[in-house]
Amino acid sequence: MAKQTHRGFSTLAIHAGQEPEPLTGAVSVPIYATSTYVQDELGKPRLGYEYARVTNPTRDRLQESLAALEGGASSRVFASGMAAINAICTMMKAGDHLVCSHNVYGGVPRLFNQILTNYGLEFAYVDTSNLRAVEKAIRKNTRYVYVETPTNPLMTISDIAAICDLAHRRRAEVIVDNTFMSPYFQRPIELGADMVVHSTTKFLNGHSDGLGGVVVCTKAEQAEQLAFIQKSAGAIMSPFECWLVLRGVKTLGVRMQRHDENGRRIAEYLVGHKKVKAVFYPGLSNHPQHELARKQMSGFGSMITFETGSLGNAKRLLKKCKGTLSLGESLGGVETLISHPATMTHAALGEKGRRAIGITDGMVRISVGIEDVEDIIADLDVALSAI
Ligand SMILES: Cc1ncc(COP(=O)(O)O)c(C=O)c1O
Repeated sequence: MAKQTHRGFSTLAIHAGQEPEPLTGAVSVPIYATSTYVQDELGKPRLGYEYARVTNPTRDRLQESLAALEGGASSRVFASGMAAINAICTMMKAGDHLVCSHNVYGGVPRLFNQILTNYGLEFAYVDTSNLRAVEKAIRKNTRYVYVETPTNPLMTISDIAAICDLAHRRRAEVIVDNTFMSPYFQRPIELGADMVVHSTTKFLNGHSDGLGGVVVCTKAEQAEQLAFIQKSAGAIMSPFECWLVLRGVKTLGVRMQRHDENGRRIAEYLVGHKKVKAVFYPGLSNHPQHELARKQMSGFGSMITFETGSLGNAKRLLKKCKGTLSLGESLGGVETLISHPATMTHAALGEKGRRAIGITDGMVRISVGIEDVEDIIADLDVALSAI
């Protein structure tokens, strides 16, 4: 592939890895729907492609695109965000330790506690917005510090640069889950992160029509190991889903701008609504890490959590969601998605686990879409009137 000369974010989003296909000039990257590749003679595969679990041209293009967008050296894509996170963990050895933000997507501690501890991997959970807690948790055998910022669903911010400093002094690597902000608003590698992970299912794809995950690497060894894991464990992203993400990222910049605009308006609306007891959004000046958010992110995004006061109130509100408000798991699509963390994304933590990190039964999370914001407000008005 030709070396990139374009630098602006949206230019990269449209062109990096997405150059016209050389054979026909197709401007859209073709979906190479093939399981194998013909060889001209024994041991001489054309262009190095042998078998689609190992390499696929559509996947190569997406890996190039996402590495460029995050400012990494390379990237590896997987069948889902969880497959990407699991792939990172398979680079660990029995006895290795990982320090994890205590408030992350619920599927992450489920993978760590219920599967990977069986293989001798060790995990500690700390409030990564508290640097002293991170410092205390790092041990001699700590291989990775895993940070989700903003956290899901409480929107707590961790200081990526400070955590990288701390971890690097102790020879641990830092992985940042950048799913909520996308590389448009948050640049973990520029802040020192060693790897960035995304559920591409969310903002990168952006259209709620494909599942995927990516690990963006800063070092050749990481990419080599992860390519070996793709080949050996096989949880790769399909060519069709790679194409969906390639198509999705072309509009990432404009989508994120609109998500952010709508997110700010909806957060203000919720703050002013008498039935809403608290609003968690880093763009609000009373958010505990508002200043850090301003320093570390170039926008606040569209993920907002608010407190309705009780499970009953949350249920009544969610039952009245109509029009632009779709009740469902997931986030980051063009459509507004509304969910209930306690029974959906964070059910696996159990009541005690949720209480420990401050997730209540009355919390509702909203992933504000890019519809006309007046319509979202009108639909929220109706839903909130049910409380
Ligand atoms: C922040 C975050 N990271 C990772 C994941 C896991 O991604 P996937 O659902 O694509 O496996 C999710 C899923 O909701 C998420 O919200």
